[in-house]
Amino acid sequence: MQPFDFYNPTHIVFGPERLDELNTLVPTDARVLVLFGGESARRFGTIDKVKTGLGARTVFEFAGVEANPTFETLMKAVALVKANGIDFLLAVGGGSVIDGTKFVAAAAEFAGDPIDLFGGGIGQQLPTQSALPYGTVLTLPATASEMNNGSVITFVAKKAKLSFKSPHTFPQFSFLDPTLTYTLPKRQLANGIVDAFVHVFEQYMTYDTGALVTDRFAEGLLQTLIEIGPNIVNNETPDYNERANFMWAATNALNGVLRVGVPQDWATHMIGHEITNLYHIDHARTLAAILPAMLRVRRSQKEAKLLQYAERVLGITTGTTEERIEAAIIQTAVFFESIGVPTSLAAYELGEADVEAIVANLEAHQLVRLSEHGDVTPAVSRDILLASL
Ligand code: NZQ
Ligand code: ZN
Repeated sequence: MQPFDFYNPTHIVFGPERLDELNTLVPTDARVLVLFGGESARRFGTIDKVKTGLGARTVFEFAGVEANPTFETLMKAVALVKANGIDFLLAVGGGSVIDGTKFVAAAAEFAGDPIDLFGGGIGQQLPTQSALPYGTVLTLPATASEMNNGSVITFVAKKAKLSFKSPHTFPQFSFLDPTLTYTLPKRQLANGIVDAFVHVFEQYMTYDTGALVTDRFAEGLLQTLIEIGPNIVNNETPDYNERANFMWAATNALNGVLRVGVPQDWATHMIGHEITNLYHIDHARTLAAILPAMLRVRRSQKEAKLLQYAERVLGITTGTTEERIEAAIIQTAVFFESIGVPTSLAAYELGEADVEAIVANLEAHQLVRLSEHGDVTPAVSRDILLASL
């Protein structure tokens, strides 16, 4: 088991109809900016409940944080914060709104030009000593942005999708109300299940370090998502307990507990971000399109963990090593397909010319030594992308 630091200061407020407790969690003299997306948070009444919970505090609104939030849009929120002396942010939405709020929190406190926050490359630590405090009201279980310090921002002008993290960008608190997921369309429910599943995979499907606790925690989350995923997407009537377990599984998939003591991969995510950047395909859908090909191309590096996954998560115990690994990859793809998420890039009508464009972007963003071994070079990424056509 590898050495690690674990730090997570986010207070989770889990359960239905608890937004009145905003009154105890937000300072009474705060000037609050509520950030949200297109229309769902207002249309389904969450913004009204948030405002009731905030009581007599001065509240501003910033609507229109788009899916895959952009630097260009978020800079308008930064200007609003600075012009109005806003000192507390509240994100109401999914990963995009929460990621965007993290950027606003950091940029509002940054003395220089916020574009310089991104000088250090992908996955960088922000060069900032502070950020505005913020909380979240989660409406879409998927990214775990509600309980981590990471964020992914799209730059329209630079044609780039870049991630950052900072010790200052954890949410102070996050409301997790499973009933807020009842209004999600099937497509977003399926996306959330796949994103959470692949977050677990990127931290689990590497090589053995004897981290028994982390491995079994990951396997429990994978089994939970496989067990409840099809019901969540395909049943017309939502089941509270299934939604509650989905929400908590997605949060745990990327709140830091699964990376302790183990190596991490993230090659599927890095390639996926370039596909979203170029073709505007939903984040989770890029992951499902890449993962089976990734596992086939890198099966020798991942052999021991693939066999462990096959046996412990999927119950595959017979056949040769090759047969068990192939069965595990096929069952994983069948799971994604069973919730309506395609498992090849061909489903999006991408071809070999697109593969070259994606590889060129990986090189342009210095994503040339990906994976737990750093051995996913542009040539290997090309093999993976071609295998997913
Ligand atoms: O804009 P509105 O109208 O609110 O509609 C949203 C949005 O169009 C809708 N929605 C959200 N909650 C809803 C709802 N519709 C009905 N009822 C509700 N309760 O869902 C659509 C998608 O929302 P979005 O926030 O974009 O989805 P998601 O949570 O999947 O976030 C994706 C973003 O997170 C980044 C991705 O790259 C992408 O930009 N990621 C962030 C990570 C992190 N911070 O740790 C890690 C992830 O791997 C990921 O990269
Ligand atoms: Zn993800």
